[in-house]
Amino acid sequence: MAKLVVCDHPLIQHKLTFIRDMRTNTKDFRELVDEVATLMAYEITRDVPLESITVQTPVAETESKVISGRMLGLIPILRAGLGMLDGVLKLLPAAKVGHVGLFRDPDTLQPVEYYIKLPTDVQERELIVIDPMLATGGSAIAAIDALKKRGCSQIKMMNLIAAPEGVKAVQDAHPDVDIYVAAMDSHLDEHGYIIPGLGDAGDRLYGTK
Ligand code: URA
Repeated sequence: MAKLVVCDHPLIQHKLTFIRDMRTNTKDFRELVDEVATLMAYEITRDVPLESITVQTPVAETESKVISGRMLGLIPILRAGLGMLDGVLKLLPAAKVGHVGLFRDPDTLQPVEYYIKLPTDVQERELIVIDPMLATGGSAIAAIDALKKRGCSQIKMMNLIAAPEGVKAVQDAHPDVDIYVAAMDSHLDEHGYIIPGLGDAGDRLYGTK
């Protein structure tokens, strides 16, 4: 079974409180989400492999570490995933970005892929699927399915807030995918909202309703 990592650094928990607060305005909400995404990127890259190279300092030659191995790809799920993208790119500026758009079929309630655009070398990259809310897990599972169908195998998931129902669904469907969250919340309500959550992440990011 893959890992579930709760990134509970004090800075993340502090900022998440103001992200949750309904009095936080759109501008501050967006900035806080961006900042937490940067901090989470630090955690999610903790196990990237390193290799030694030789460098010359002004006073001596030394062995020093650089990141080696696979290159990264970031896959925000439209539209709320875009709110975390720039924050992650601040730490990983060389990552390539693919986009996955999904909508929920009103009859079957299943996610349907309406847009996908991926880097040409996506199969060779270690991928981070980004979505602020892991609620039922339907979109996350569909996005990961879409990536695996195209030959991708190294996939992690990054969410601000998750419900236990969503984590279980993703772990059952994709037991190889590590999940990184800033908080595990209590449950989903009858409309599929995470409780206590933060409301609708897309609406709060973009000022829509
Ligand atoms: N999507 C959201 O934006 N919020 C939730 O609480 C659940 C899904």
